[in-house]
Amino acid sequence: MTKHALITGGSAGLGFEVAKGLILDGWSVTITARGEDRLRQAAGHLRRLSEEARVEILPLDLSSLADIRRATERLQQSGARFDAIVGNAGAKIESPMKTTEDDFEWHMGVNHLGHFALVSMALPLLSSGARISMVSSVVASRGDARGIYASKNVSLSAGQAYANSKLANQMFALELNRRLAASGSTVSATAAHPGFARASAYGSKVVRFGEYLAAQSAARGAKPILESLIAEPGSYLGPGVFELWGSPTAALVHEAALDERLCADLIHESERLTGLELDL
Ligand SMILES: NC(=O)c1ccc[n+]([C@@H]2O[C@H](COP(=O)([O-])OP(=O)(O)OC[C@H]3O[C@@H](n4cnc5c(N)ncnc54)[C@H](OP(=O)(O)O)[C@@H]3O)[C@@H](O)[C@H]2O)c1
Repeated sequence: MTKHALITGGSAGLGFEVAKGLILDGWSVTITARGEDRLRQAAGHLRRLSEEARVEILPLDLSSLADIRRATERLQQSGARFDAIVGNAGAKIESPMKTTEDDFEWHMGVNHLGHFALVSMALPLLSSGARISMVSSVVASRGDARGIYASKNVSLSAGQAYANSKLANQMFALELNRRLAASGSTVSATAAHPGFARASAYGSKVVRFGEYLAAQSAARGAKPILESLIAEPGSYLGPGVFELWGSPTAALVHEAALDERLCADLIHESERLTGLELDL
């Protein structure tokens, strides 16, 4: 039977390349993002890759718990079942600092808490043997696990808040995998990062020029993410050359992601902030 993946941020950049890779591998996909025009355009491109593939779009704003709930209810009502969730959508480093609709610090709110809420609500929609993969970043290594629970700590720099949110993606994936395994579930989780990849244009002209010169293509950056859908449960993958470029290989796991107490604290705090129970 055709496998079906839910890919957040599938309208552009790495998420779009992940969707392409899966379609070419015979999967169907549901891609999510905020911008409906870009979603429709992306779906048009994806449908042209394969006549058999089913490509659905789902408008979803990860900065709003109400919108995540609305989107998940829509999936439930449609009877959708998924063999993979790729938690890819992400706020880049954005300053000045701001908060989400639910008053969470923006980077942590969108990148981690939004995905935490989506996964918590979408777990019953997963098929036997399904895989959840969270997209982290090489800068997760600079994340500060002690400051991670301060979801609205305005004294953080935007860069530190982004690094913390990407560390949270990694910790969440590895803790989720441990809990799924302990519960006897056939569902498993992994994490991956794309290294330095050319996705949607962002930042100053200097940043963009640096990206133009030094970044690998989004298609190459998507490879560790695609690989994480078939890799060993609990693994963390990234590109092989200085974790910035090249073919997928095992990436360096932050020690906080291996610390079950810190990870349990992250889950507990995520549950408290979102008002949702992971139920694992
Ligand atoms: N590119 C890199 O070098 C790099 C390096 C390390 C990690 N990453 C990670 O890779 C992931 C993808 O990044 P990218 O470079 O491909 O970014 P991108 O090209 O900017 O694409 C981001 C995608 O996420 C969606 N999105 C953004 N904010 C959202 C929100 N609040 N709610 C729902 N969807 C949202 C965007 O669509 P809308 O704007 O329409 O919502 C778009 O589809 C991110 O998690 C990022 O942290 C990227």
